[in-house]
Amino acid sequence: MNIKDKPIGFFDSGVGGLSVLKEAVKVLPNEDFIYFGDSKNAPYGVKNVDEIKKLTFDAVEFLVRHNVKAIVIACNTATSAAIIDLRKTYINIPIIGIEPALKPAVELNKEGKIIIMATPTTLCEKKFFKLMNKYKSISDIIPLPCPGLVEFIEEGTLEGEEIDGFLEKRFFSLKDEKIASIVLGCTHYPFVKKELSKILGQDISIIDGSRGTAVQLKRKLISNKFISSKTKKGEIKIFNSLKDNNIIDLSFRLLNS
Ligand code: DGL
Repeated sequence: MNIKDKPIGFFDSGVGGLSVLKEAVKVLPNEDFIYFGDSKNAPYGVKNVDEIKKLTFDAVEFLVRHNVKAIVIACNTATSAAIIDLRKTYINIPIIGIEPALKPAVELNKEGKIIIMATPTTLCEKKFFKLMNKYKSISDIIPLPCPGLVEFIEEGTLEGEEIDGFLEKRFFSLKDEKIASIVLGCTHYPFVKKELSKILGQDISIIDGSRGTAVQLKRKLISNKFISSKTKKGEIKIFNSLKDNNIIDLSFRLLNS
């Protein structure tokens, strides 16, 4: 099989990475995609780095067995824990990661604080401190770990009282701050963007890295001469470590939302 005709692999701890796949399908409509969500082991964001690394390598092996030409780690937590080691191990496969989209938030240059919502592990990792150090002299940045939020999205709860209560409680300590923007540093969170706007107000910009990651994937495919030559719409296959049709149904619902 010509390498150009192989699928692109996507991975996340669960259904969150579908927010990135959604953008990738827009940017690369003729590519085939294979998505693997590890919902059985979600959430990753409260596990230790070694455990996340091991789970991420297992997931990448699954994608490699499906003969993918490139891999997107559509999970901020797995990217921060494992991307360096993955790139050292799989030297012939382009591997694209995702990190909190702090740069576009800083470039908005709005008055007020930039809040980064992410998992506790992402916010504790070296990769995040490096990113934060780059901008902390020009912007006021507040990391906001949100343990518990991923679980709502994994069960398909994207709106309603429960989730609003969770978000209100999480933002309570910031009630007297002027907020310029929110950076969604976890790929699950774009699925509750509407609820966030409802609670925080429509004026606050909410930024996520899915579009940037999809564009970066396209760039990588072009530079490696891996872009598909097909002219018809690509196929999307979704796998999940939870052997359960409900999670596959939820995945397609999120992808098409
Ligand atoms: N979706 C993942 C991320 O972007 C992590 C969610 C989890 O804790 O499993 O960080």
